[in-house]
Amino acid sequence: MEFKNAKGMAIPSIGLGTWQLKGNECEKAVANALEMGYRHIDTAEMYENEERVGNGITNADVDREDIFLTTKVWRTNLEPDSVRKALEGSLEKLETDYVDLLLIHWPNENMPVKKTLDAMHELVDEGRVRNIGVSNFTTELLDEALDADEEIKANQVEKHIHHQQGQMTEYCQENDLVLTAYSPLARGRASEEVLMEEIGENHGKTAVQVALRWLVQQENVVAIPKAAPEDYQRENLDVFDFELSEEDMEQIEDLEKNKRYVDPGFAPW
Ligand SMILES: NC(=O)c1ccc[n+]([C@@H]2O[C@H](COP(=O)([O-])OP(=O)(O)OC[C@H]3O[C@@H](n4cnc5c(N)ncnc54)[C@H](OP(=O)(O)O)[C@@H]3O)[C@@H](O)[C@H]2O)c1
Repeated sequence: MEFKNAKGMAIPSIGLGTWQLKGNECEKAVANALEMGYRHIDTAEMYENEERVGNGITNADVDREDIFLTTKVWRTNLEPDSVRKALEGSLEKLETDYVDLLLIHWPNENMPVKKTLDAMHELVDEGRVRNIGVSNFTTELLDEALDADEEIKANQVEKHIHHQQGQMTEYCQENDLVLTAYSPLARGRASEEVLMEEIGENHGKTAVQVALRWLVQQENVVAIPKAAPEDYQRENLDVFDFELSEEDMEQIEDLEKNKRYVDPGFAPW
């Protein structure tokens, strides 16, 4: 497994996304992924699956210390007391004493970010959270967040072949932040993209593997594809034994459609 580093935080380049994984399927997917070599799991209080994710971790024969576990606090829980309560709830459901990364899931313009980050920092001081970060923040909001707390380590945003986030990627590289690419398969569409198939043929790889390789080959970028079936999980992890050429990378950049597939009404853009 390869890692990316930012401000002392080492995070595996590929993680398992768990949005929409529920029940036994979720437990099995998490346990299978860990058994086959995943060391990074992404969940959130909003996904209502933390208990199942926790069971999956418990059932797998992998030490907790070897797993990078991220969870997120929802945008209506950003008051200091609510942050604490939310994290306590998450830890209980996940059956663990700490998370490796706690993120603000979405910004909330009614809540000063400094107040929330201060509360998250207290949880770091108590040892219940190893690192803190944000998600779905624009570069303007990141400026504000970094002013409030220069120790934030990551921004998790939608990034894939159809929404490439060039400006955000540069911002994260310049500010030593990890960019965690969510919906890295364009919510599955990458598997049907002809250019990915063509590039893949030259490397003996699938369309999905090319789409993921394009992400993890970028400085500071990690990706968290969601996959329930074991064969998808295996395919998504197997992206570290080949390299895209500069020409491959440029061809993929020409595919940019600026198309978001996650765009709720409360988004800050
Ligand atoms: N911070 C945020 O606001 C936010 C927002 C969205 C997502 N996320 C995180 O990012 C993770 C990933 O994003 P996502 O779930 O939106 O989409 P995604 O990972 O881009 O795509 C998931 C879809 O691709 C399919 N798939 C997976 N591997 C495949 C393969 N090798 N070949 C063909 N199809 C494949 C999955 O199939 P199956 O259905 O069969 O598994 C699923 O339908 C989420 O699970 C969540 O953890 C965060």
